[in-house]
Amino acid sequence: MPHRELASLLDELTRLASLPLERGETLPARAYSSEDFYRLEREHVFRADWLCAGHANQVARPGDYLRTEVLGEPVVVTRDEDGTLHALSRVCRHRFMDVLPPETTPEQGALKRLTCPYHAWTYRLNGEYAGQLAGAPLMGRVDFDRAACRLPRYRLEVWNGLLMICADPHAPALGRQLDGLTTKLAPYRLPDLVVAYTAAWEGVGANWKVALENGSENYHHMGSHAATLEPVLPGKDTVVDDCDGRWFTMYTPFAADSLRAAEGATGAVGTVIPGLGERELSGMTIAGVFPHLVMALLPDSVTFARWIPTGPATHDAHFTVLVPPEARAEPGFDAYVDASRQQLETIQNEDAVAIRGVQRGLATDPGPSGGRFSHLERPLWQFQRYLADRLAQRGRLP
Ligand code: FES
Ligand SMILES: [Fe+2]
Repeated sequence: MPHRELASLLDELTRLASLPLERGETLPARAYSSEDFYRLEREHVFRADWLCAGHANQVARPGDYLRTEVLGEPVVVTRDEDGTLHALSRVCRHRFMDVLPPETTPEQGALKRLTCPYHAWTYRLNGEYAGQLAGAPLMGRVDFDRAACRLPRYRLEVWNGLLMICADPHAPALGRQLDGLTTKLAPYRLPDLVVAYTAAWEGVGANWKVALENGSENYHHMGSHAATLEPVLPGKDTVVDDCDGRWFTMYTPFAADSLRAAEGATGAVGTVIPGLGERELSGMTIAGVFPHLVMALLPDSVTFARWIPTGPATHDAHFTVLVPPEARAEPGFDAYVDASRQQLETIQNEDAVAIRGVQRGLATDPGPSGGRFSHLERPLWQFQRYLADRLAQRGRLP
C-alpha cells in the first residue's frame, strides 16, 4: 500500500513539473508528511546533492573547526595547517561516539587533532591525512589495522564563501551550476563578509519544504509580515526573475528612501557593504539554491537560511547573518547585532505561525490539493521541477 501511495505521489510530481506557471499547482499534501516520500528525499536530495554547512569565515584560520548536522548526521568541517578545508564524519571508528559532542564542545573552535572524548582515540587533521587515526591507546594486544582506520570524508566546495558539502561522490560539481548566480551576487562580495551572529530554531513542527517555500516568496509580506516587512519591502513590488534549474533570484525595492528603509528592515543602520551599486542600495535581493538554501541580501548584511529536515514533519531552521568586516570595528556594532537579532526573531516568529499553520492544513484528511500560485510564487513552481528531476525517475527504481 505505501508503495502504491509513493508511486502516485511521484506520478503527481511528474504531472506538476510539466505544467506552465500559469497552470501550476501546489505539491500533493502527502508529500509533506509521507515517511516514504521523506526517505526518498533523504536519499536522492539530501544525501545526493550539495548542502550548505556555513560560511568559510567560521573556519578562517588553520586548526579551526565547525560542527554541522546538515547531512542529517554528525559532520565537522576543519581547516588544516595548509589552509585546506575538509569535511569529515564525526563518527569515531572505535565504537562510533560523536567525536565533538554538542553537550561538551562549542559549535566552532580550534583544534590540533580530533580526540574522541570516549576512549581518547585521536585523528589527524592535516592534508591528505585528514581523518586518519593518529593514536588508539591500549590497542596493542589486538589485531588491528591502524593504517586503514580513518574518519570518512565528504566532498566540500567553497562557493561564494559558503561551505557546500556533498555525500555523493558522483554528484556533479556545484560551482559551475551556479555561475549565473555568482555573477548576480558579485557586488555583495560574499566571500569577504564575516559572521555577525547565527540563530537556530530546532524541532519546528513542519516539513522542510513548507519552510523553504515560505522563504522563497515575498507574496506573504502582505499577510505574515504586514506590520514588519511589508511597509519597507512591499511584496507586490517584488520582481521575480525568470530563472531555471537549481537557483532563483528576486528583487524588492525599498518603499521609502533607502537609508530609513534599510533601518526598518534590519532593525538598525549597519555598515553598508563597500562597493554596492545603486540597485543593491535600494532594495533587497532574495537568492535561493535548491534544495535548502535561501539568502536575503541587504545593503548592510546578507542573511542565509538553511532548513534541515529531521523527519517527515519536522525540521531545524538555521540562520547566519553576514556583515562586512569593517562593521565589527564600529562602536555601535553590539547594539546593531542585538537589534538585528531581535528583528530576525520577530520575523521568524511571524513565519513560524504560517509554517506550522500550513502543516496543520496539509495534515487534514483528505489532504487539500490544487492550490494555485501567484506570479510571485514562481520559485515554488521552479522547485517542483528540481524535485521531480531528482525524485521522479530515481524513486521508481527497484
Ligand atoms: S568511541 Fe571513540 S574512542 Fe571509543
Ligand atoms: Fe517570511
